[in-house]
Amino acid sequence: MPSVFTVGAQHEQVVFCVDAASGLRAIIAIYSTALGPALGGTRFHPYVDEDAALLDALALSRAMAYKAACAGLDFGGGKAVIIGDPSRDKSELLLRAYGRFVASLGGRYITACDVGTYVEDMDVVARESRWVTGRSPAQGGSGDSGVLTAYGVFEGMRACAEYLWGTPSLVGRRVAVAGLGKVGRRLVGRLLADGAAVVAADVDQAALDRVHAQYPDAELRTDPDALITADVDVYSPCALGGALTAEVASALYARVVCGGANNQLADAGVDERLAAAGVLYAPDFVVNAGGLIQVADEVEGYSHERAQAGVSRIFASTLDVLGHAEQAGVTSTVAATQLAERRMTGIGQLRRILIP
Ligand code: NAI
Repeated sequence: MPSVFTVGAQHEQVVFCVDAASGLRAIIAIYSTALGPALGGTRFHPYVDEDAALLDALALSRAMAYKAACAGLDFGGGKAVIIGDPSRDKSELLLRAYGRFVASLGGRYITACDVGTYVEDMDVVARESRWVTGRSPAQGGSGDSGVLTAYGVFEGMRACAEYLWGTPSLVGRRVAVAGLGKVGRRLVGRLLADGAAVVAADVDQAALDRVHAQYPDAELRTDPDALITADVDVYSPCALGGALTAEVASALYARVVCGGANNQLADAGVDERLAAAGVLYAPDFVVNAGGLIQVADEVEGYSHERAQAGVSRIFASTLDVLGHAEQAGVTSTVAATQLAERRMTGIGQLRRILIP
């Protein structure tokens, strides 16, 4: 495991939040505010210890900064983690205590949903802080971000098709979708509508049943690992992080990897293995930015049409990344990181021009 100081050295601010009365123990990590307020969700998870929670907050907030930068947003990157079991420890008191810590940062950090937190929770957090997105439509929020995240992944996949096969369509292609939750099942719908054949898997029978009822044309499997060697053109990880290991990189049948899951690369170097195996990898933080674009839009008062238009630009940003990777002779992940850092440095330096 990398040391906290190595991972955290470039972070702007890390805040530990403790409230004994509610049992709150949380960490808010701000990687960068070079482009604007740090935006990123709150993960509620039973971490084994505080070191594990801190490392997760540091890594996730960095990825959020790159995601916002690649999406062309005027937001920086941040992420919060609440240490605990959401099914046992979540309460109004705890969420509101957390909201007060978010408020204490005065808008330097804006929160949203993540694993273990939902729109209803953000409505509660918002009772103590105005720096909250991902709220319910009834409270002026944008609701479930899975719809636009899936749309963005689809646009990223179309860009991969354009880059590799010279046509921005998945018609006639076979796509494997691993994970059929809020993102994966919407992606299945988009792919079928575009004329692709879909083979999909989930570990949860209820998720499979729901997709079968909605999309009877999708071929369903109960073993997600079978998708790695399945005869498909595109592999789309839409479940948890770490799906792409060195073993997966060498066994993968698909020529394209493009999915919604965060942190798909299990280890440093897997992107190089994928490239060496002739697999085109669309960096996760580039193609899954739809949810972030949605909640960013909510900050100024949500417009679904405007957010959707923003997400459609993932097609162009994915092509930019793939083009830059080819030109610079680096992997797509390195290319995306370079483009993000370039934008953060360039735009961030504009503050040298004083506006009286
Ligand atoms: P979800 O919790 O709604 O769905 C995840 C699905 O994956 C569940 O149906 C679960 O049973 C399944 N699953 C778990 N382990 C699996 C495995 N080993 N193989 C196959 N399926 C498995 O989550 P959601 O919102 O669909 O998110 C999916 C991924 O996309 C996550 O990595 C998330 O961090 C990422 N993401 C989600 C965004 C959003 O707006 N919802 C935005 C950006 C990224």
